[in-house]
Amino acid sequence: RGDPRLQGISDAIRVVPHFPKPGIMFQDITTLLLDPKAFQDAIDIFVERYRDMDISIVAGVEARGFMFGPAIALAIGAKFVPLRKPGKLPGEVISEDYELEYGNDRLEMHVGAVETGERVMIVDDLVATGGTLSAAIRLLERGGAEVVECGCVIGVPEFKGRRKLAGKPLYILVEPR
Ligand code: PRP
Repeated sequence: RGDPRLQGISDAIRVVPHFPKPGIMFQDITTLLLDPKAFQDAIDIFVERYRDMDISIVAGVEARGFMFGPAIALAIGAKFVPLRKPGKLPGEVISEDYELEYGNDRLEMHVGAVETGERVMIVDDLVATGGTLSAAIRLLERGGAEVVECGCVIGVPEFKGRRKLAGKPLYILVEPR
């Protein structure tokens, strides 16, 4: 796509080779957060996309979805709902398990955080296998929400080409560096 802001966003993401394990090229968005112009551009692109989609909730995936979601939510006048790792939310929760390369993880959402029929966009920093976002989609749908789209700063080329995740549209700003 031709948005000139995307190159600056990509350039602001640091790659840390062999973290957290040998062979992994870690896409570190903390350097994007240190670049107010590139960070603002990333938020703006999401805001421009979602502000006219009648979205009432931005749901962010712990931990790095929390770094983008609230800014988007405030700018479009939506609520922010955190999807958290197990045992962190104090109220009654619903949960969804998902597979990792080694082992399992779980996302939880407060019961009552979403109302039936609410239109939600889900945000995270990165989509790799899509397992995390798929669990997030299941969680929101079990809560009665309509998942309009998932938005990620970084997406592996497989997803960038496909632009669909668990039947839902997937919007990606840049590929891994
Ligand atoms: C990373 C990333 C996404 C997820 C993407 O989080 O921030 O949430 O992995 O991977 P997937 O598409 O293969 O599911 P991580 O599991 O490292 O958790 P953290 O943000 O709490 O460190």
